[in-house]
Order: sequence, then structure tokens, then C-alpha cells
Amino acid sequence: MLPVDLRSDTLTTPTAAMRAAMAAAEVGDDVFGEDPTVRALEAKAAALAGQEAGLFVPSGTMGNQLAILSWCQRGDDVLVGEGAHAYLYESGAGAVLAGVQFTVVGRGGHFTPAEVRAAAHTTDAAGHIPPSTLLMVENTHNRGGGKVMGPAALAEVVAAARAAGLRVHIDGARLFNAACATGAPLAAFAGQADSVSLCLSKGLGAPVGSVLCGSAAFIRRAHRYRKMLGGGMRQAGILAAAGLHALAHHIPDLAADHARARALAEALAALPAVELDVASVQSNIVIFRVPGRAPADVCAALADQVRVLPFGPDAIRAVFHRDVDDDGLTRAIAAVTAVLGA
Ligand SMILES: Cc1ncc(COP(=O)(O)O)c(C=O)c1O
Repeated sequence: MLPVDLRSDTLTTPTAAMRAAMAAAEVGDDVFGEDPTVRALEAKAAALAGQEAGLFVPSGTMGNQLAILSWCQRGDDVLVGEGAHAYLYESGAGAVLAGVQFTVVGRGGHFTPAEVRAAAHTTDAAGHIPPSTLLMVENTHNRGGGKVMGPAALAEVVAAARAAGLRVHIDGARLFNAACATGAPLAAFAGQADSVSLCLSKGLGAPVGSVLCGSAAFIRRAHRYRKMLGGGMRQAGILAAAGLHALAHHIPDLAADHARARALAEALAALPAVELDVASVQSNIVIFRVPGRAPADVCAALADQVRVLPFGPDAIRAVFHRDVDDDGLTRAIAAVTAVLGA
């Protein structure tokens, strides 16, 4: 029997129904703006986000980088939470492509309005200081263990950022998980920002794609940068159809991923060898520690039954997604209990 694969929610594979929707998609050349399925996906995502317009992009990385390129000038400063994907896991793209630098705000991924106010710089008369022009909010926060910033807390940091003259971009790779965890609609988060990147290929189960949303003027700028980076795609409706299918059918299933993550967390927390605060598990991600054992060794000991990833020097990450069902959860709990409960 194959191990239960909890390494990432990017591992989901398209269902038969999603593949059928892809095969049936009406397509055209999207660089000419003639792919009706891409147009439909962009309109649907923008409506869900409470934004004016959308732009289909191949990846969450491209969505984030187009936002930085569109909002910032070379030499600007971008505020990010600790461990943010946009500065830690995008291969230095912000520095190379947009020529920005990053300032980390707060601890654990999210931050308070006071921390945003304290971190935001304006330039001085002599021009020593790089001006902060963009705040990026990753929600849920991956390195923060799937931590959720609710709409009210988000409103406070957005207000602090705006008062300091910053734009706000949400890295919403898992914003649908934040909406699911709080019961608030997606637009209660995404509608507050100047731009948001929504991933279709994480918990929603599409094979490819993200939609960057914002005002029509912002999307016009981002569209040009997408072309520059080689992200203009031709009969992309084949891919957009998977995203449309995911938006129509898969959003409600995220709640089951969250419940399974909580159940694994409770089982782990009951093991004396494991360090885990169950309250820290707010969505589909579980981060735990096994003091005295290297994460790579723990992952190797579990690997033939359940696959998880070392996450930094002392932590391990397990991520629930739509390709792991209740049977997978039962097997994962049995494996961690056998290997770590001994
Ligand atoms: C929070 C976050 N943002 C952005 C991305 C980038 O997405 P992609 O892998 O589609 O470039 C990821 C990928 O896992 C992510 O976790």
C-alpha cells in the first residue's frame, strides 16, 4: 500500500470530472484575449475576491511577482511576515526582477498594526532610506503553520499600511482556507487589499494556475509584466477549465481537510515525545516537533507509511488535502502513534 502523502497540498491530482471539464473546454488564443474559458475564470475569481478584474497566471509565484513589479519601483522596500513565501521561496525573484528589498515584520508570519507602523520607512531628504511601498500578507501563512489572519485583524493591518502610504497585496495561495476556517466569504479578505493572488493548484486541486485580482488599472500593468516574463499562454482554457471546475465544486471540501488536520494534531499532541499546540492548527497544516530527534530522521522513520517534510531545523510539516480521505487519516494516525509513541 502506498504511504499517505502529507508533504504538501500541491500534490493533488485532477479528478475524472475535472479532466472531463478540461477536455471539453472551449478555447482560443489567450494572448489575443480570445480564450472564453480563461475570461470566465478571471471574471469568476475576481467576483469571488470582490475585485474588479483578474489575470490567469501559471503559478502563485508569478502572481506574487507581478504584484511586486506592478506596485513597486526599483529600490523600494517590501514589508513581509517572517518566512513569507514571496521572499523566502521564490528564488530571490523580488530582488532580481523588481529590484526590491524586503523587511520582515513581526514574528511567526503575521504581524500587528503597530509592527507595520514601526517597520514602514519613508525616505529622508538625503535619500538614504529605501521607501516602503508594499505590504504583503500571506494568508493562511505556510511557515506559520497555516495560521489564519481573520478579516478584522486584516482590516487593522491594511489601515496601518494605507496610513503609511503602502499598497497591500495578499498572497492568497491558501486564502480559501482562511475563508473556510473563519466562515467569512473570500471577499471579506481579498476585497480589502489592493491586489490578491489566489492559487487553484493547492487545496482546490487544479493541476496548474493562479488568478491575480485587483483593479482594472492594476491588472493592465500586471498583464504587461506577465507577457514580459513569458506567462502569456495560448489555448490556456484547457487549464482554466480545471480552475473553474475547482471553484465550482471543491471549495466546500476544504473543511474536511481542516478537520483531518485537527484530528492528526490531537493524536500527535497526545504522544509524550511530540511537541505540538493543537490550538496552533487553524487550517490544513500541522507543524510539530520531536525534541531530541532530527526532523529528517523522523520523516525517514515514517516514510513507508506516511510522508511528511522536515520544516526548518527542528520542525516537521504535514499538510492535508483533497487526495487524503478518512482512511488516509486513520493510517497516518496509526503510523505516527507506532513510530513516535514507542
Ligand atoms: C503561501 C504560498 N505562496 C505562493 C506559493 C507559490 O505557488 P506556486 O508553487 O504555484 O508558484 C506557494 C507554494 O506553495 C505558497 O505556499
